[in-house]
Amino acid sequence: MNAPSPLSHRLQGFGASIFAEMTALAVSTGSINLGQGFPDYDGPAEVLQIAQAQIASGNNQYPPGIGMPDLRLAVSEHQQRFWGLTYDPDSEILITMGATEALAGALLGILNEGDEVIVFEPLFDTYAGCIALAGAHMVPITLRPQASGRYEFDVDELRTSITSKTRMILLNSPHNPTGSVFTLEELQVIAEVAINNDLIVISDEVYEHLIFDNKRHIPIATLPDMFERTITISSGGKSFNTTGWKIGWACAPAPLLAATRMAKQLFTFAGGSPFQPAIAAGLRLPDEYFIALARDLEEKRNILMNALTECGLRPITPEGTYFITADVRGRRSDGDGMQFCRELPQQAGIVAIPAAVLYDPRHENEGRHLVRFAFCKQLSTISLASEKLRAWA
Ligand SMILES: Cc1ncc(COP(=O)(O)O)c(C=O)c1O
Repeated sequence: MNAPSPLSHRLQGFGASIFAEMTALAVSTGSINLGQGFPDYDGPAEVLQIAQAQIASGNNQYPPGIGMPDLRLAVSEHQQRFWGLTYDPDSEILITMGATEALAGALLGILNEGDEVIVFEPLFDTYAGCIALAGAHMVPITLRPQASGRYEFDVDELRTSITSKTRMILLNSPHNPTGSVFTLEELQVIAEVAINNDLIVISDEVYEHLIFDNKRHIPIATLPDMFERTITISSGGKSFNTTGWKIGWACAPAPLLAATRMAKQLFTFAGGSPFQPAIAAGLRLPDEYFIALARDLEEKRNILMNALTECGLRPITPEGTYFITADVRGRRSDGDGMQFCRELPQQAGIVAIPAAVLYDPRHENEGRHLVRFAFCKQLSTISLASEKLRAWA
């Protein structure tokens, strides 16, 4: 059949995921897969037990489209307890199938054809796809490693990127893959730009509890005059090591939430009944749980950072998240991160992801020399990976 590709023109240019290629390489070479950003260990037993009990006791049919009342209440308590934000569980909180569906709902529910969306790149791949599906355009602001040791954006670049078509800023802090936790000063600049240009802000905060070195996560909705224009999105996947459950949420003033919900109801409508009470219990765990979660990851980050440094890569210290990015130019003068990732499994028995795929294709050169390692793995896995990297050095 010589028919043209049935793929929608909106999705032309989106290739097969690099994650599939790298996972296949991990399997065929027996390598440790530090490409995939999910934990290889379970979440808190009490959370898992609730899901099991819910299935056994028959909570297996559709939940309400907006989410179960007790989970909406738990999300609202969580926002108040950790960030001092007040949301009405009935009109300002929506339960979704992961943060991904909340993002899709907000983007497709609000954007019109031709709108422009400011994003910070490198970026989580869902953003580009959903913006394209909405017929809108992505305007990337590049985060670049600085002498300060962290990735930062150019304030003037942000200010001058705003046009009459700009509708929204899509923010992600703590940021995947750079590990940057946006500072109060950075958030103030973004807030000022949003307010001055009457923009909506979507704030993806899925790594809100995965913060290191006593850094502070600040939801942009807490800044003056930002609550009214911000949709805050998160999920239980990263906070409770349950990425496969896909229980997420959006918190926003009623008009923004209603637009998000309008689109979301056309996707899954609702789901995850037995997992919703379990995540509600997770959100109500004591502070010690969340502190230990971050401390445990921080230890693994430190072990992998040392190994990456010792084997001649130049890792950039992440302030949060699951990921370390590293500059391969210490080991490859051509700076080809893609080739580096294709060869590393054979050479060192480790799989990483080339960061170039997380940039807008128009300037993927910005990330050509960068690769991403995930450290959300068992301590024994991270220790073994570190030994392999040292042996390769
Ligand atoms: C920045 C960011 N946002 C959203 C998600 C997806 O979250 P969920 O699994 O809850 O859909 C991820 C997952 O890796 C992510 O890194």
